[in-house]
Amino acid sequence: SRTAAVIPAAGRGVRLGPGAPKALRALNGTPMLIHAVRAMAASRAVSLVVVVAPADGAAEVKTLLADHSLPERTDFLVVPGGDTRQESVRAGLDALPPGIDTVLVHDAARPLVPVDTVDAVVEAVRAGAPAVVPALPLADTVKEVEPAAEKGLPEPVVATPVRARLRAVQTPQGFDLATLVRAHDTVALRGEGATDDAGMVEQLGLPVVVVPGHEEAFKVTRPLDLVLAEAVLARRRA
Ligand code: CTP
Ligand code: MG
Repeated sequence: SRTAAVIPAAGRGVRLGPGAPKALRALNGTPMLIHAVRAMAASRAVSLVVVVAPADGAAEVKTLLADHSLPERTDFLVVPGGDTRQESVRAGLDALPPGIDTVLVHDAARPLVPVDTVDAVVEAVRAGAPAVVPALPLADTVKEVEPAAEKGLPEPVVATPVRARLRAVQTPQGFDLATLVRAHDTVALRGEGATDDAGMVEQLGLPVVVVPGHEEAFKVTRPLDLVLAEAVLARRRA
């Protein structure tokens, strides 16, 4: 049984502010994408990593991979991404060679996920779950609102789900490859597309299970997240 990791890295990073595409920004001197690639290749289970690059950035990403030290037992492929995360994941799945039966989908924007979390996801898929997501309990209470027509207006609260039953999901999410491909073939694309691959498998009516995530698998989304990521890296090196 062979496992591949697909890394969607084709986003602009609008919420991070102006600059290079998010995955190419440096964290303590090394591009975020390289940290994410190393996090996947650190797992003995992962034999192939497919990087889904910004549409006009595939050549630059190939150069980056060639210029950084990566494990020799791992193969690497680079393909151009699409306009939505879902399209980018699809491009990565389409590039997989025959013989892969398990796939991880991991955001380049989660560069610091520990290898134990990656291994736990792979193990749960190999144990028979068609879809596995790492997740953590929430610190904040969550409210569902009726979104305001205009930014800044008060929004009526619709519901308050019981916090103890909620989980914030991370990546890598792990799948039986045939199941994830079927989800992409049959689940309709709407608007921004799916932000969560496991959600597409849920729409097929198949079981999705949660395993413990990790604080360090947080997503770099806004400027403050860069500060946190660099602090985590500095602590690891200390
Ligand atoms: N992604 C992608 N292709 C897209 C959009 C997103 O491969 N068309 C990837 C991003 O590169 C990132 C992951 O999906 O690794 C999670 O998306 P997100 O954190 O939203 O990143 P961006 O879309 O780049 O950020 P923003 O939404 O702030 O623009
Ligand atoms: Mg986005």
